Amino acid sequence: MRDQHLDQAVHLLQSGQCVAIPTETVYGLAANALDSVAVTQIFRIKNRPFFDPLIVHVASIEAITPLVRDIPPAAQILLRAFSPGPLTLLLPRAACIPDLVTAGSERVAIRIPAHPVCQALLQRLPFPLAAPSANPFGYISPTTAAHVAAQLGDQVPLILDGGPCRIGLESTIVGFEPDAVIHRHGGIAAAQLAKVLGQPLAPQPPRKAHPQAPGMLDSHYAPRTALHLPPWPDPLPHDCALLRFRDFDPRVPPTHQRQLSVQGDLDEAARNLFAAMRELDALRTAHIFAETVPQQGLGQAINDRLYRAAAPQHKTSKNH
Ligand code: TXA
Ligand code: MG
Repeated sequence: MRDQHLDQAVHLLQSGQCVAIPTETVYGLAANALDSVAVTQIFRIKNRPFFDPLIVHVASIEAITPLVRDIPPAAQILLRAFSPGPLTLLLPRAACIPDLVTAGSERVAIRIPAHPVCQALLQRLPFPLAAPSANPFGYISPTTAAHVAAQLGDQVPLILDGGPCRIGLESTIVGFEPDAVIHRHGGIAAAQLAKVLGQPLAPQPPRKAHPQAPGMLDSHYAPRTALHLPPWPDPLPHDCALLRFRDFDPRVPPTHQRQLSVQGDLDEAARNLFAAMRELDALRTAHIFAETVPQQGLGQAINDRLYRAAAPQHKTSKNH
């Protein structure tokens, strides 16, 4: 990362513009979280509905204080254990957070990213950054600067390149009701959270008409190609691609399949998931057949993304 790019990012963000930023989970499309006009541009560029609230990114635990009314004890425990890192907490918002950022909710989503470039940027800014994943609404999240450039390059004045994302899946979102509840599985496994809190987390809250986390919309993280989970048809249709966990499938040529981790490592599989989905989507086959992974560690979040990618698409995501 050249300093001049960081300078340029600081300048653009201070003048109310958007910048694509690397984080350890996925790339984000960032703007000044305290400036509604700046934040409106994120929604426009992503074609994102206004009912879908944004995560607010800060450099440190101390920087959270002015943005919230309270940090419940369980949230403090999680912050101490996992910050900075792939964890987002839903906390009661302070008055300085614009309605647009929370979509009118009384809770604001807060995250402290660990990526060094993102940290350096946040430390130089006098305001927090609102940032959703830097993809058109409903499509697969970007895990490299090239992924962002391919879809939003002509609409974003700067993409800070911080290399491929180390985690490759979005942050885990936790709310307090008052017990800790996982709203979205992500880069920190449920079992890790439970270990630190000393008890299993309550199940996900029931779906609302306007979902609390539209990452929870059935069709999300979706390629344009129809993606199917097991059971797969036998024989496989001719015009297809395969997304495998660890094994090679001799029925399909190597060009048309990806193995997420030949070692069977779920962290590696998470890191490779979205890039593999994009590569297979680019082949423009009639179908992608995807295998689920063991439901342990990051496997829960990987399977969650696969289920959503396989769900029937709604109009907005088909447009991209
Ligand atoms: O890892 C991540 O979380 C990445 C990086 C860029 O930080 N960001 C990300 O943002 O995945 P996005 O917008 O693609 O997904 C954020 C999810 C959305 O589904 C949104 O609905 C939920 O967080 N969310 C944000 N604010 C919320 C709030 N106040 N209440 C409930 N859910 C909220
Ligand atoms: Mg997203």
